[in-house]
Amino acid sequence: MSAVVRLHNVHKSFGSHKVLEGVSFEVGRGEVAAVIGQSGSGKSTALRCINALETIEHGSIDVCGHAVHDPKLDRRSLRRDVGIVFQSYNLFPHLTVEQNIMLAPTCVKALPKAKARELAREVLARVGLEAKAENYPEQLSGGQQQRVAIARSLAMQPKLMLFDEVTSALDPQLTGEVLKVMEDLARGGMTMILVTHEMAFARKVASQVIYMHKGKVWETGPGSMLDAPKTAELASFVGSGL
Ligand SMILES: Nc1ncnc2c1ncn2[C@@H]1O[C@H](COP(=O)(O)OP(=O)(O)O)[C@@H](O)[C@H]1O
Ligand SMILES: [Mg+2]
Repeated sequence: MSAVVRLHNVHKSFGSHKVLEGVSFEVGRGEVAAVIGQSGSGKSTALRCINALETIEHGSIDVCGHAVHDPKLDRRSLRRDVGIVFQSYNLFPHLTVEQNIMLAPTCVKALPKAKARELAREVLARVGLEAKAENYPEQLSGGQQQRVAIARSLAMQPKLMLFDEVTSALDPQLTGEVLKVMEDLARGGMTMILVTHEMAFARKVASQVIYMHKGKVWETGPGSMLDAPKTAELASFVGSGL
């Protein structure tokens, strides 16, 4: 297995607060890893470390051939390979859907406008929103805005996608349409790491579930591990319906 992401013994603190205490896991090409765990267990921090939004004190993180732990890391080059989508969509309200998507390819990759527009239409089709290209974000539902945020990320043609609780702010129906887009991406072979509370989705789509507890990878395995937890902590987490 050629690992796209490899964390080894990662430690991260905020001041005296240890948030990651020796986190290790690997995600192979085309794999979907679902990170689950109680609030405060370090899931978002782990994701942010992968994209060098946080620096680590100890251990190593290798992502798409970049040594993320290296102080000499070329962040721009890393971020060309890694897309990240958060709970909040952060679309520019004064730009149309299409302009929002064209922004990074034209500014960061210096893609000509016509090419960027073509690309925008292509990624919008992948999230089922071709018809909304000319609309402004406020004219879209929350689920549609989140799908635009995903499309915007896809337009940079990343090798790895990170999703941090992208459906947490959405009601169940809109959650479903966003999860469907993510499932299609997974089927298409995208390597993905997603932090999620959607246990059914994790069980169905993830090739690897990573249960984090108190800054550690407490238990990891295929989706079926959720049906037969080995630790009392995972049993209690799954049982709590979260
Ligand atoms: N920038 C920060 N400064 C200080 N503490 C932080 C910061 N980011 C996260 N934390 C703390 O780290 C812990 C883990 O946070 P986080 O990774 O967001 O957990 P999760 O995503 O699993 O809910 C929490 O106690 C949180 O308050
Ligand atoms: Mg979080």
